[in-house]
Amino acid sequence: MKYSNHISFILDGEIVKINFSESGIKPTTTLLHYLRSLPGHKSVKEGCGEGDCGACTVVLGELKNDKIEYRAYDSCLIFLPSVHGKQIITAENIGNSENLHPVQQALYDHDGSQCGFCTPGFVMSMFALYKQEIKPEKEEICNSLAGNLCRCTGYRPIVDAAEFSVQNRTEDHFCKCEDRIVSLIKSIDAENTIEILTNNQKYLIPFSKQEALLLRKKYPNALLISGSTDVALRVTKKHELLPEIIDLSNIKELNYFKSKGDKLFVGSNYCLEDLRNSSKDVLPALSNMLNVFGSRQIRNRACLGGNIGSASPIGDTIPVLMAYDAELVLENVTEKRTVKLRDFITGYRQTQCKSDELITEIIIPFPSKDRIIKSYKISKRKDLDISTVSACYTLKLKDNKVDDISIFYGGMSAWTKCATKTEAALKGKEWSRENVEAAMKLLAEDYKPISDARSGEKARNIMAANLLLKFWAESGRSA
Ligand SMILES: Cc1cc2nc3c(=O)[nH]c(=O)nc-3n(C[C@H](O)[C@H](O)[C@H](O)COP(=O)(O)OP(=O)(O)OC[C@H]3O[C@@H](n4cnc5c(N)ncnc54)[C@H](O)[C@@H]3O)c2cc1C
Ligand code: FES
Ligand code: FES
Repeated sequence: MKYSNHISFILDGEIVKINFSESGIKPTTTLLHYLRSLPGHKSVKEGCGEGDCGACTVVLGELKNDKIEYRAYDSCLIFLPSVHGKQIITAENIGNSENLHPVQQALYDHDGSQCGFCTPGFVMSMFALYKQEIKPEKEEICNSLAGNLCRCTGYRPIVDAAEFSVQNRTEDHFCKCEDRIVSLIKSIDAENTIEILTNNQKYLIPFSKQEALLLRKKYPNALLISGSTDVALRVTKKHELLPEIIDLSNIKELNYFKSKGDKLFVGSNYCLEDLRNSSKDVLPALSNMLNVFGSRQIRNRACLGGNIGSASPIGDTIPVLMAYDAELVLENVTEKRTVKLRDFITGYRQTQCKSDELITEIIIPFPSKDRIIKSYKISKRKDLDISTVSACYTLKLKDNKVDDISIFYGGMSAWTKCATKTEAALKGKEWSRENVEAAMKLLAEDYKPISDARSGEKARNIMAANLLLKFWAESGRSA
């Protein structure tokens, strides 16, 4: 294994090289703090420091099929070494007061800025949308802006500006210099593992699965990160020093979504925004859950492996994937094993993943056509909020009787579990309101939810029961 000890990225159209041991910059410095330390990128604002406000939104340009793909991210959730090999774009790079970019001009023309604190973040989300080769529906425009908060202006003029800009796209200066940026990115080494060593931190960036597995064996105590949207808060909010990190985010080989036979195979590095789009027609219950997962900036970064690896009781893909009866591939240097997601999580944020293993793949069987599958999420607000209670149900009816049913809830116990007693009570019974209402009472025996800032135990039980009734109402019920 060959090592390199510095990272390189493109900023202001030029390659920037950072050697962490010489510069004194910590490898867990966020991209936000790095950019704010520079004189020319103060448009990147710190609001919440935890992915909730979008004031820190930047766009990263990445190489895809010899073109640059532009996506918006919360820079407060990204550790600086993760941007190796990418182009960093902030509001300063897209235009200035003498020469506004079309999205800046649109925001100005539509009165979309008042105090202006949120404006650069909105501009960057609008810019990422502008650079996509699609004509988005209004719903998608709103979805792409849901990760940006504005206290002053009201969203209508901002949404109007975004709509106007994507309907009137013209060539911008990024089109003109794309070839040059492509060749700069290509000149950056993306083969030799990066090993950043400072006096109290080790930050490793492998570029292949095999290298990652070797590092996992060598450093069994190192913390894995994929998108770091969960882990970054340990630094920004809890001020923890993370001594050893293996950053998987540059492993392209684990970033895929493909179907073969009656199954879907998803690489653990596949980001949730891509999963939301790819699963729309084939796994709608998953796609619907992802529509209300975090924000566009979070989903662009967070990976399926990270959501499952967090084993959070409110991890939103988990009840859905359990209902689909997904399996995980766990690998170490010499072996590969497959476990059911239903068995993978063993306790509060505890999993079967051993210290030398990685989740490398998620296998999802295509459900049979006669299954009704629906997912639900209850949170304090629709967008950018974590679940209070989430659920996914699958149902197979035969002559209006329950031939098979599976019921999984998030937020109802220390980890996502199946409602065994409720399922058993419904199996073989007529799919009627009376029987569903009787089964709803059993949920209190299946789960003992906690009371926390989000909700009390009693309210959680009521929510879970009412979701089951909602599922009945939406699933070809009989009276
Ligand atoms: C503002 C905000 C909103 C959010 N909204 C939601 C939401 O709506 N729903 C929700 O479920 N979550 C939400 N989250 C939490 C978080 O974004 C998700 O859990 C996300 O999917 C984590 O993925 P990641 O790739 O960023 O994981 P990371 O932060 O990189 O890692 C998370 C955990 O998984 C482990 N891990 C990562 N990759 C692997 C692997 N390949 N093998 C084994 N272990 C691995 C890591 O060691 C770590 O313990 C939100 C977070 C923020 C900050
Ligand atoms: S500072 Fe609020 S999302 Fe980053
Ligand atoms: S213009 Fe003030 S917060 Fe948006």
